[in-house]
Amino acid sequence: MNSCTRKRVLITGGLGFIGANLARRLVDLDAQVTLVDSLIPEYGGNLFNITDLKDRVRVNISDVRDEYGMRYLVQGQDYLFNLAGQTSHMDSMQEPYTDLEINARAQLSILEACRKYNPDIKIVFASTRQIYGKPDYLPVNEQHLLRPTDVNGINKMAGEWYHILYNNVYGIRACALRLTNTYGPRMRVKDARQTFLGIWIRLLVEGKPFEVWGGEQLRDFTYVDDAVEAFLLAATREEANGQVFNLGGCEVVNLQELADLLVEANGGGSYQMRAFPSDRKRIDIGDYYADDHHICAELGWAPQVNLQEGLARTLAYYRKHLEQYL
Ligand SMILES: NC(=O)c1ccc[n+]([C@@H]2O[C@H](COP(=O)([O-])OP(=O)(O)OC[C@H]3O[C@@H](n4cnc5c(N)ncnc54)[C@H](O)[C@@H]3O)[C@@H](O)[C@H]2O)c1
Repeated sequence: MNSCTRKRVLITGGLGFIGANLARRLVDLDAQVTLVDSLIPEYGGNLFNITDLKDRVRVNISDVRDEYGMRYLVQGQDYLFNLAGQTSHMDSMQEPYTDLEINARAQLSILEACRKYNPDIKIVFASTRQIYGKPDYLPVNEQHLLRPTDVNGINKMAGEWYHILYNNVYGIRACALRLTNTYGPRMRVKDARQTFLGIWIRLLVEGKPFEVWGGEQLRDFTYVDDAVEAFLLAATREEANGQVFNLGGCEVVNLQELADLLVEANGGGSYQMRAFPSDRKRIDIGDYYADDHHICAELGWAPQVNLQEGLARTLAYYRKHLEQYL
């Protein structure tokens, strides 16, 4: 029996891509799940993500920047999966204060709410590989210098370290997962705000060509079910407390290879190569792939779904439900 069974669980960003997939898994484990989400239209939240779960979860449409709301919501919870975030790198450059408020300040106030009203809660924070910036070496392990290339990376880094600090100073059990590109059913595909892979999938399913920028960049990808497993392990294992863990994927590919795999999984389609736009180049991190030995050794995590299988499952989902995501 997984130790989330019958526990009270709060997921911030719970109507988003990863949060909603995590909610499904927790509901199957008989957890009592509350989802908090602001449903800001530019972000990945979507009520359709939980349409078949809606009688089995509590949904609270509110903003994690609302200190009073969060003060109430954290009370009585056994676990907090803290996933609410502004995820667009470009948006963080255009609206840096919004990113600061959500990804840094609100994180601090959530932790303060836990310290004052529920110090026994266990928290798992969704961090990102973006905080490493341009890698000095590959694969990137957790000892790599943190040197973000955009405002989002700086604020997520602060958000992550507030969690570790509250673990270390106040004993509020917390840890962080540094996610790499995560993909799968329920991701935002309307545009490229969450990931370029989203818009590729949308255009492919619509029978239109998509654009591959550069093409040579190396990346790793975690299928969302594997990411969900990591969140559950991080929550339920005491040895995770105070630690940060990279997540990786089954394989490393360049973007053109990824495009070929996607077209193959779709049974057809086309793409065009394009030079990397200059406004994105300035904040780009170049090649990245994770060394995820730490979580594998410490928590026994291992990615199970390879790209071929994961892309096929994702395309099958959007062939059926694309209109709900436009
Ligand atoms: N998907 C990835 O590849 C990836 C990679 C690295 C890190 N992450 C992190 O994982 C977390 C979840 O990402 P996701 O991919 O599911 O994105 P997502 O956009 O689908 O989910 C984030 C959710 O947070 C909600 N949200 C945003 N601001 C909020 C606020 N102020 N109050 C309440 N809710 C708010 C959004 O409405 C959305 O539903 C994020 O913190 C993100 O930084 C994701």
